Amino acid sequence: MGKKIAVIPGDGIGPEVIREGMRVLERINKSASLGLEFVQFDWNADSYLETGISMPAGAMDEIRNDFAAVYLGAFGDPRVPDMKHAADILLGMRFQLDLYVNYRPVRLFNERICPLKGKTSDDVDFVIFRENTEGAYVGMGGHFKKGTPDEIAVQEDVSSRKGVERIIRYAFEFARKQGRRSVCMSDKNNVMRYSGDLWLRTFEEVAAEYSEIDHFHMFVDALTMQMVRAPEMFEVIVTNNMFGDIITDLGAALQGGLGIAASGNINPGKVSLFEPIHGSAPKYTGKNIANPAGAVMTAAMMLEYLGHTSEAQTIEDAVQKTVAAGQTTADLGGTLGTREAGDAILKHLG
Ligand code: IPM
Ligand code: MN
Repeated sequence: MGKKIAVIPGDGIGPEVIREGMRVLERINKSASLGLEFVQFDWNADSYLETGISMPAGAMDEIRNDFAAVYLGAFGDPRVPDMKHAADILLGMRFQLDLYVNYRPVRLFNERICPLKGKTSDDVDFVIFRENTEGAYVGMGGHFKKGTPDEIAVQEDVSSRKGVERIIRYAFEFARKQGRRSVCMSDKNNVMRYSGDLWLRTFEEVAAEYSEIDHFHMFVDALTMQMVRAPEMFEVIVTNNMFGDIITDLGAALQGGLGIAASGNINPGKVSLFEPIHGSAPKYTGKNIANPAGAVMTAAMMLEYLGHTSEAQTIEDAVQKTVAAGQTTADLGGTLGTREAGDAILKHLG
């Protein structure tokens, strides 16, 4: 894998938090001689509104062929109500680079920032694997008699055997490598019988190859309840694209909110994309309010993916120390601005 990292700050608070993440990355890149080369791409709402182009021709191939990873801020701007540029770039990369694993760990750094009463870091420590290239996100469907009283809209939810199997397998492989004891597959197969049947059969078949790991199924509505009531029962959760989208926001809240949660869009062994879970938060833009911790944790996740495990750990430790010391932005109970919270993380990096 190459050493080039594409940096796409995006919209809203994206550039502010990525700036802090980049300070951390540049520091580690130098001190640990990682030899990473960062190339920034200013594809965002501004450039889209100006040119009508979300991503220049050939850019996807360039990313695919020349880069090891993409470090992305956030997309979303009120001036682009249909989020066209976001769909083209973010969903475009998920599909075209086949980033089939959406990796979203849920780990509570500190009891103080957990919204659940009486839950500790030991209780909130699991990983969600969201299928990232199929489901309701494929955009298949259409309108019939649009604009009339008889209008019908169809939106398909697509699951392929290959797609389901590879994400389930990835979840079990992860559990095996990380010594996790169980994998929970969640869907809604009491209603969605056909895709549910495919998911459950595949889950059972793959699980049989990992006999040392417990496996269980849970309906996604019950899952949301248990994530709040008893998060300690989960180690690894695997689910489809849409359910995964929903439960990972809940997961982010459990670990202290969207401000600190990181995610990876991964095609194992290929160029993969890393982004904080939070959005562009237009109303906080340019106010030095946004929490940079999510972007910094995302940088750590990216380094881990690139094989720089100890450097990733160093960054996580630094973030954890700032949380413990209350050196955070207001969303985590601190009084610091974006920049100052970034300073604090850098200080703990040593
Ligand atoms: C996410 C986001 C995206 C999604 C949006 C911005 C299309 O919510 O990464 O979770 O739905 O996947
Ligand atoms: Mn989401």
